Amino acid sequence: MYVELTLNGGRRGFEVPDAASLLELLRDHAGITSPKDGCSPQGQCGACLVLVDGHPKTACAVPAKNAAGANVLTLEGVPEEERRVYGEAFARTSGLQCGFCIPGIALRMKSVLDANPDPTDEEIKKKLDPHLCRCTGYIKIVEAFHAASRLRRGEPLPPTDASGRVGTSLDRYEARELTLGMRPYVCDLVFPGMLHGAVTLSPHARAMVRRIDTSKASAHPGVVAVVTAKDVPGKRFYGLILDDWPGFVAEGEETHFVGDVLAAVAAVDARTARAAAASVEVEYEVRPPVTDAEKALEEGAPRVGPEGNLLSRSVVRRGDAEAALVSSAHVVEGTWQTQRIEHLYIEPEACVAVPGDATGENPKARLTLYTQGQGIFDDRRQVAAFLGLPEEELHVVLVPNGGAFGGKEDMSVQAQTALLARATGRPVRLVLSREESMRLHPKRHPIRMHYRVGCDAEGRLTAVWARMIGDSGAYASCGMKVLERAAGHAAGPYRCVNVDVEALAVYTNNPPCGAMRGFGTNQAHFAIEGALDMLAEKVGIDGWEMRWRNALEAGDEWSCGQRLTASVGLKKTLLAVKAAYEENRGRAGIACGIKNCGLGNGAKEWGRARLVVEDDGTVTLYNGFTEMGQGLLTVLIQFACEVTNLPASVFRVRVDTRFPMSVGQTTGSRATFFGGRAVIDAARKMKADLDSGRTLPELAGTVYVGEVLQDDTTKLGHEPPAGKPMKLHPAFSFATQVVILNDAGRVAKVVAAHDVGRAVNPKLCEGQIEGSVHMGLGYALSEEMVCVDGMPTTFRIRDMGVIRSRDMPEVEVILVEDPQPDGPFGAKGVGEIGLVPTAPAVAAALHAFDGVRRFTLPMKDSPAARALKR
Ligand code: FES
Ligand code: FES
Repeated sequence: MYVELTLNGGRRGFEVPDAASLLELLRDHAGITSPKDGCSPQGQCGACLVLVDGHPKTACAVPAKNAAGANVLTLEGVPEEERRVYGEAFARTSGLQCGFCIPGIALRMKSVLDANPDPTDEEIKKKLDPHLCRCTGYIKIVEAFHAASRLRRGEPLPPTDASGRVGTSLDRYEARELTLGMRPYVCDLVFPGMLHGAVTLSPHARAMVRRIDTSKASAHPGVVAVVTAKDVPGKRFYGLILDDWPGFVAEGEETHFVGDVLAAVAAVDARTARAAAASVEVEYEVRPPVTDAEKALEEGAPRVGPEGNLLSRSVVRRGDAEAALVSSAHVVEGTWQTQRIEHLYIEPEACVAVPGDATGENPKARLTLYTQGQGIFDDRRQVAAFLGLPEEELHVVLVPNGGAFGGKEDMSVQAQTALLARATGRPVRLVLSREESMRLHPKRHPIRMHYRVGCDAEGRLTAVWARMIGDSGAYASCGMKVLERAAGHAAGPYRCVNVDVEALAVYTNNPPCGAMRGFGTNQAHFAIEGALDMLAEKVGIDGWEMRWRNALEAGDEWSCGQRLTASVGLKKTLLAVKAAYEENRGRAGIACGIKNCGLGNGAKEWGRARLVVEDDGTVTLYNGFTEMGQGLLTVLIQFACEVTNLPASVFRVRVDTRFPMSVGQTTGSRATFFGGRAVIDAARKMKADLDSGRTLPELAGTVYVGEVLQDDTTKLGHEPPAGKPMKLHPAFSFATQVVILNDAGRVAKVVAAHDVGRAVNPKLCEGQIEGSVHMGLGYALSEEMVCVDGMPTTFRIRDMGVIRSRDMPEVEVILVEDPQPDGPFGAKGVGEIGLVPTAPAVAAALHAFDGVRRFTLPMKDSPAARALKR
């Protein structure tokens, strides 16, 4: 089909498939990549927004044939001065994080401001309704609209400190390029001769694979290669911790979930690859799946895990909880249940593999892999083993991703893409559809938690007893660590010497569950904070006072036995929200949170960085951690600026495997903590040279290596070496949040006070907390991924329950700085704890409002959930 249209002011014609969408025409045929594909053909995320004859349209939902003769405008065609305005507006307000949703929103901004140069907050939020942003909570996006409105009127924005020093709100690294869709994501990369990949997934959560017939797929015109388990030259099973996840399920094996890969296809275009992948014939013997974690542990249950269905048992036992409960003045008991949720980052999984050394910098490379993963060195380890290559022959380059939240720790399609490139000898790009993404990547664990908690007559905790069972799904991922973290955080940020906690991670045929922002601590806090409210009622004190009486302070022992020596700002956060809580009695709920920074629990942890002075006078900052919207690259530059006194504009950041800098996953609120310390280490060496009078041009070619190692933590449930103090984690963040409802029971405001150690970049820090609260409200009220027989019941992203712009309440962020002595300039993690207290604070507010205690997430039966306009 030939489609002729006016595109960005020029008359163009394209030969496209009859069923092609306008988005396909733009991205695959016109080479225009500012419209992003977050959900095609659903038309529900807004990332692909374009203007058709002046009207905003989601290009994925417009058939290309309907655009014939139309005037189509993308950001590429917006006049340069206006592009500058939108880039400036988002950069200066920190209105973007991962940036994947932003080009669509920037074009929306244009259309809104063209019609109404000075819209109100409510008008902007209403216009943003078709857009899904998983990162920001929309608050700073609305600010960006107002900033753009001012700039378009010729009014300058307030001056900003661009020095890059710690404590200033330096613009996000590459903010303008991201806003305008100029900074490519993996799905935007193109290489000469590139093929397109697609995968065949199992439709059955549990089925014996009798036969895989790829003959039809291979014969499909345009198909270059079809690969299956038989073609894997190395280790077919991989995993973050256990190698139990097959890159392909082989004939004679059982599928474990509906994201299992049976075959992969490389073809001349994505449409052909998908059609061929769908034509792979698989003969299944369908078997009943195991979908209930408790039943999976029963005698005779079908085996899902390699050694049985119990993946792990984490235990925390201190003091005598049973005896303490018997002698407690008050005891409460209950069962709390949390749900499976979808990360719903707006950028689906993608990978590009290019034979040889695509960067021209790594002569040993036999394959170059462009990944969006949260741990490029783990990706390299797993893919190299899968291909049977030495690790140094695989070069991995991070392309900062469009959101991850833990869901891109596990490999998605890296191994299959790499195999297709090896099989064809050509570059291959494989991008998952939204449905495939939802089927394939690990989710947040549903955990059932039975608690008994006691306190004395004054409300001081005497004992916490808990039994948890988490559904880890088909493969281990890091499920054992998530349940370990839930067990460790089971007593919350409170003093309690009698603790008896057991947490089981269990294999089932549900989608795997692994890392997601908060990593098991969210679930535990929903329960312990609920129990605290029940105890407060018995004691006759309010929720604030109950927490104040138990809150950890410097010098206290945490419930797992670690003595906290410094940077315990919990009471400061409680004081910061006290007035808001008291002024809104009867409709306010309060909850606290603690979240570890760093893996700890006996793990050795490194931060590694290099500063390389280039011939052109710039400095390249190499780092091993992943940028996924949290602002890591920006704050690393700020650390380098602070130490060297050089301006931020000097620094460029790269993340790849060129240097031996393995640092593990970007997880556990550790990237700023360890990566930052390593940058400071390298920057101090550079500063010494600069102080000796040498200039950057004179230092060209010099490499400054920074490294820190943390190796003083103890495995949970173990005793430290003799003479050493118990130390489970390197550091902890603390928070208190108050959720306030309006007269109708709708969430009207959240006050979030967070001890961040040091706010390296206050605006980015605020943005992390606002985005977390947004995610936490969805977790509390509306988000859930329901599965039947292991298969999600819907793949529509609106059905996932993520809060939209119009339902986002006011969020007041209060940054408390209680510096972490060994943190980079006192900083500690902020990316995860933001939503840890949110769901229990909502539950408490609802109880204050209608007297109903809620034990199950999401609280869809509540007035706050019913008030959502979704
Ligand atoms: S609305 Fe088109 S990709 Fe999401
Ligand atoms: S910035 Fe909106 S999805 Fe990441």
